[in-house]
Amino acid sequence: MPVDLRSDTVTRPTREMYEAMASAELDDDVLGHDPTTLSLERLSAEMTGKEGAIFVPSGTMGNQIALATHTRPGDSVLFDDDAHMLFYECGATAVVSGVQARTVHSTNGVIDVDKIKARYLYSSLHTPGTTLLCLENSHNRAGGTVTSVETHRKCRSICDELGIPIHLDGARVFNAAIALGVKVNEITDLVDTVSISLSKGLASPIGSVLCGSGEFIDRAKIWRKRFGGGMRQSGILAACGIVSLTSMVDRLTEDHQRTKSLAESLSGMPGISVVPPQTNILMIDTTLPAANWSEALEKEDVWVVAMGPNRVRAVFHKDVDDDGLEQACLAFQKVGHSGLS
Ligand SMILES: Cc1ncc(COP(=O)(O)O)c(C=O)c1O
Repeated sequence: MPVDLRSDTVTRPTREMYEAMASAELDDDVLGHDPTTLSLERLSAEMTGKEGAIFVPSGTMGNQIALATHTRPGDSVLFDDDAHMLFYECGATAVVSGVQARTVHSTNGVIDVDKIKARYLYSSLHTPGTTLLCLENSHNRAGGTVTSVETHRKCRSICDELGIPIHLDGARVFNAAIALGVKVNEITDLVDTVSISLSKGLASPIGSVLCGSGEFIDRAKIWRKRFGGGMRQSGILAACGIVSLTSMVDRLTEDHQRTKSLAESLSGMPGISVVPPQTNILMIDTTLPAANWSEALEKEDVWVVAMGPNRVRAVFHKDVDDDGLEQACLAFQKVGHSGLS
């Protein structure tokens, strides 16, 4: 069996999810009547301390609906300089919402709070007024790094001063909450809207939820329809989302522990340097090309992703258990001592 460490998006639904799908009560959600989708939305709103939520097909759509709902074409929006919304969403900020991105310097995925005000622009005859700050916690490109509650609090007070809302790309916000040892709403209370992936560490096959005020969600529903994200008997998927939120959150701790174990077992190995992990993502810098490593590891039935010319990424999730961890440790050792490095 290959040990698939490419991403936490590769998980298969659990037995409980299949059972929930089979017995889900369904109706038409575009008409606003699918009871299972409505339950998932209520649960998501409750957990994040928001008035409402909408179920959307993907994290990208959740983020982009939020952006479109918060802004108007010609506005400027602040992002940390490595944000998923800028790197991996196909230019949707510009193409779909017509906003101008202004990046704020970040360190290891954590926005430099002191730089936010300097990047804000007043609306004038000449300048595109800044109307939103986007944050990401945990941070994908930085390797699952976590922004502290204290930093969120500082961002909140700066944005209150500037009079702009905050959207959180919280695709992995439960990983962040677990790493910080806090309830997720301690983070989400400090943002206006949050998009959470159900299909990453929480193991649903498909779906994200976008949470915010009742008024925001009413407007976001129009954007969801415009994006083509209105789904009919979506309860079949929302049923998995409910399982994710009720029984897959605490389990994320195991992924974090296994990530740490792999990091420990590789530390000091010649030819690589391990970035200490904070959640379920391990970044490994390689002296030789990352592609050589990923190809050699694949021959040992361990799948990782080359994230850059000299960086490979390994991500832990529910479908990699302790045996998988051991196989991964052995494969790295074998490849590392094979002369490759
Ligand atoms: C931080 C972050 N935001 C958003 C997304 C987008 O999610 P999706 O692939 O469901 O569109 C991802 C996916 O990897 C992500 O890591």
